[in-house]
Amino acid sequence: MASSGVLMMSLFLVATIFCASNAQLCATFYDSTCPNASAIVRGVIEQAAQSDVRIGAKLIRLHFHDCFVDGCDGSILLDNADGIESEKEARPHINSADGYPVVDDIKTALENVCPGVVSCADILAIASEVSVVLAGGPTWEVLLGRRDGRTANRAEAENLPGPRDGIANITRKFSNLGLDTTDVVALSGAHTFGRARCTVFQDRLFNFQNSSNPDPTLDTTYLETLRQACPQDGNAAALNNLDPTTPDGFDNNYFTNLQGNRGLLQSDQELFSVAGYTVAIVNRFASSQSDFFTSFAQSMINKGNIRPLTGTNGEIRTNCRRVN
Ligand code: HEM
Ligand SMILES: *[C@@H]1O[C@H](CO)[C@@H](O)[C@H](O)[C@H]1NC(C)=O
Ligand SMILES: *[C@@H]1O[C@H](CO)[C@@H](O)[C@H](O)[C@H]1NC(C)=O
Ligand SMILES: *[C@@H]1O[C@H](CO)[C@@H](O)[C@H](O)[C@H]1NC(C)=O
Repeated sequence: MASSGVLMMSLFLVATIFCASNAQLCATFYDSTCPNASAIVRGVIEQAAQSDVRIGAKLIRLHFHDCFVDGCDGSILLDNADGIESEKEARPHINSADGYPVVDDIKTALENVCPGVVSCADILAIASEVSVVLAGGPTWEVLLGRRDGRTANRAEAENLPGPRDGIANITRKFSNLGLDTTDVVALSGAHTFGRARCTVFQDRLFNFQNSSNPDPTLDTTYLETLRQACPQDGNAAALNNLDPTTPDGFDNNYFTNLQGNRGLLQSDQELFSVAGYTVAIVNRFASSQSDFFTSFAQSMINKGNIRPLTGTNGEIRTNCRRVN
């Protein structure tokens, strides 16, 4: 018994040292320093979900926007301060990105149990997986060991993929970060839950690309529904389900919606309606939820690997809103 315990412990140390010494992320990073980290994150999110069914969608979007701006370094969480132009004030985030108070609650819960150990960047990675699982989606081994940056980059946040960028530009923004076409399609499947404001797609309903007509790729019944939800003189901030079929569940209906011309954002529908490599991937995910789940999990790992700070770079923030 004792010797197998020693063996286990040495294997474990080897794994931990290996993980740190290669400046790479690994699933076991907090096994000795904060073994309950994932359960603590889950507990806070479950609590928050009781009053906000959308919290998981908010959190996974924060991780996406964190990783796409200067790598997964928690930069999106920084508030304005001396030398910090908060990314929260970039156009894609104003009146849009949310979930910050729940990240604060997660950080507080972790600091109470293992102070100074779990980075804010890793909190977003763990929270993404937990949120997907809670909504019925796939689980995956979250790679950990990211450290928090000391800078924000508002200009890069302004340049995040936008719903009207066109599929070519979106694919380019992904490939600049090492993500391929399958990653674009699989990760867009995160729009299987969460909401979008009228303002991000209203042009499709009335005056698509200045044509004075709606987007011809919109299903006509869906178009009528959306026009009622988002009238031209209505509230541009009104919220709409990204997945009209199962708004809060994580499943492959996002892709069957695209086949039925019921993608909410231009960037969603183009994956199916613009001829190219993405159409076959949409069809594959629409016909097999398990194919989608496997790809989504892998693509989340790929995205979570974008330029992390490791080793002695960066820091472990005490408060996710401020550098130490
Ligand atoms: C492919 C390029 C993408 C574009 C152009 C895009 C665009 C958008 C837009 C415009 C919104 C609505 C924002 C608002 O109404 O204020 C949104 C919401 C959302 N996005 Fe994306 N997105 C993309 C990729 C992703 C990825 C990769 C993920 C995560 C893996 C993601 C997760 C979400 C979620 C969950 C929501 C709903 C958030 C909520 O309910 O608060 N998106 N996205
Ligand atoms: C781990 O955290 C969860 C959620 O806070 C808690 O219910 C559980 O008791 C904790 N387990 C240990 C071993 O501390
Ligand atoms: C794609 O990006 C290029 C370069 O920024 C821009 O000129 C072009 O208008 C963009 N395409 C669309 C459809 O927005
Ligand atoms: C539509 O017209 C407006 C006003 O003239 C212009 O600013 C905008 O760039 C046009 N949009 C497209 C997609 O052509």
